Amino acid sequence: MDASSDEGVVTEEVVVPRRVRARDAEPWDAHTPDTVDGSAQNRLLIKGGRVVNDDMMQDADVYIEDGIIKQVGLNLHTPGGTRVVEAKGHLVIPGGIDTHTHMQLPFMGTFAVDDFYTGTRAALAGGTTMIMDFALPQRGESLVEAYHRWRTWADAKVCCDYALHVGVTWWSDKVGEEMQELTEENGINSFKMFMAYKDTWQLGDEDLLKSFKRCKEIGALAQVHAENGDIIKENSRKMLALGITGPEGHEMCRSEEVEAEATNRACVLANQVGCPLYIVHVMSKSAADVVSSKRKQGHIVFGEPIAASLGTNGTHYWHKCWRHAAAHVMGPPLRPDPDTPRYLMDLLANGDLQTTGTDNCTFSASQKALGKDDFTKIPNGVNGVEDRMSVIWEKGVVSGKMDPCRFVAVTSTNAAKVFNIYPKKGRIAVGSDADIVVWNPHATRVISAKTHHQAVDFNIFEGMEVHGIADYVICHGRVVVEEGEVRAVSGMGKFVPTPSHCPHVYGRVQERDRTNAPCKVERAPYDGPVTQLNGQGRVPVQESGIMAANQETFYTRGPTRSGGVNLHDSSFHVSGWQRDDDVRPRTSIRLVSPHSGTSLQGIFW
Ligand code: URP
Ligand code: ZN
Ligand code: ZN
Repeated sequence: MDASSDEGVVTEEVVVPRRVRARDAEPWDAHTPDTVDGSAQNRLLIKGGRVVNDDMMQDADVYIEDGIIKQVGLNLHTPGGTRVVEAKGHLVIPGGIDTHTHMQLPFMGTFAVDDFYTGTRAALAGGTTMIMDFALPQRGESLVEAYHRWRTWADAKVCCDYALHVGVTWWSDKVGEEMQELTEENGINSFKMFMAYKDTWQLGDEDLLKSFKRCKEIGALAQVHAENGDIIKENSRKMLALGITGPEGHEMCRSEEVEAEATNRACVLANQVGCPLYIVHVMSKSAADVVSSKRKQGHIVFGEPIAASLGTNGTHYWHKCWRHAAAHVMGPPLRPDPDTPRYLMDLLANGDLQTTGTDNCTFSASQKALGKDDFTKIPNGVNGVEDRMSVIWEKGVVSGKMDPCRFVAVTSTNAAKVFNIYPKKGRIAVGSDADIVVWNPHATRVISAKTHHQAVDFNIFEGMEVHGIADYVICHGRVVVEEGEVRAVSGMGKFVPTPSHCPHVYGRVQERDRTNAPCKVERAPYDGPVTQLNGQGRVPVQESGIMAANQETFYTRGPTRSGGVNLHDSSFHVSGWQRDDDVRPRTSIRLVSPHSGTSLQGIFW
């Protein structure tokens, strides 16, 4: 150890890269004290690097004490005995936040092979210091019980911090009450609804509406898995009847429009009840276009592409090797259009899409083989938690689509903002958690299942050469990855509560509700003749479309030139105003165009 210091008063331990690879930590190493390797790790100085936040870059040192960033700047005064990590020529970035994982998920008859230990350890290896997983109750099961089950699984094993989203996989009044309990008492601010997986987790439109309404009431973010499960069920049946039993059938029974239709429907339903919406795993150009155009119309909607959709494509489903093809099976599927990753990356770079996850849900060959004769039985899911940062750096930054600030935004900061844990997470600033990656933008590696840290035996990015390597990963102020060596221990991560009523999500909602509130037209009551119905409950003529010769027509409001209200026309407002009304509303009533929200969106992302 080099004890010299260029700051006079300070004695620093300089970390010398270790050449010999020590034994990787094992689960039974849990509860290792704050000293790993004999070095006091409660004080750390990251020196000589370029600090990158989502909105600025600066050459600065970062001083950390007890897991919190205490100083950022040059010529810092730090106490003796502080350990130093040399970051010259490196970027110093906020640790990655993977918004979407499924560690050890019980799914399709088996359990995802990467659990909260191997999954979070792999996450750290790649520069991700926090994951957001999903507690998914079975239909009829208590959401709170599912939450506690996931907490028990995760707390004992996680090597990095984690938060939970909770699935609303069925609906009842009790579910609504539990959603409130989870937000008020258990640190949950996001609920995922499934529009696919018919007969297990799928919700119909009525229950989706109820869930969205409830999310809004409790200040939570509604998330959807957007695919039309009814179409998938019907098409799967057809494929199997045609003798198409291989993985290609998985994509063919759920083409892009099946995802785009559900994405659009979810946006419409959420917007109708004024609920902010988050589309998980955006997999296709068409679905991304829906998110982008709804945002332009002023919807509060966020889109999350994943490492898989940004880094590879669905041509693999036609691979001659069944195991290779099956390894890519996930829902919604990767798209056969090979241009998809480039397209999604462009939207992510320019702000149409905001966050990135992985949907990491891994199954090894023998598990995938549950569907060897029937693609509908192949457990859905792929890897990504370890490689997300490198894949996005390679496809996003090295390609010239985004600068390092945008990289930080889409891999960390935006997630922290959307899920209301910013600036504790997602920023390098005084007071923030010391979850930091010393990123080597020039080094390269070749991704392979042979060398990755995940438990799964396949890697969908196999053979991809990527720039951008996490040379050091600091989690809660501890160096947990150093020169390729992962020294994390199970149970050292913490659950991060996500508070409801996130200002970045709900900041516009109250005002919008007020200005969009429906208001009636004050008028004198109608006092003319009214058609007498024949007592058999016949409907008024303009609704039935049948004009009886001896029946008098009446209208409850004046007819429009177009003959009525077109609900698909964005000029329709719940306030009752239509563009062809002759009489405009009172000027004191502010009618807000759906486009009014767009200027605000630019502020945060
Ligand atoms: O294929 C996938 N996506 N597996 C995990 C479950 C889900 O839908 O997110
Ligand atoms: Zn999903
Ligand atoms: Zn998922």
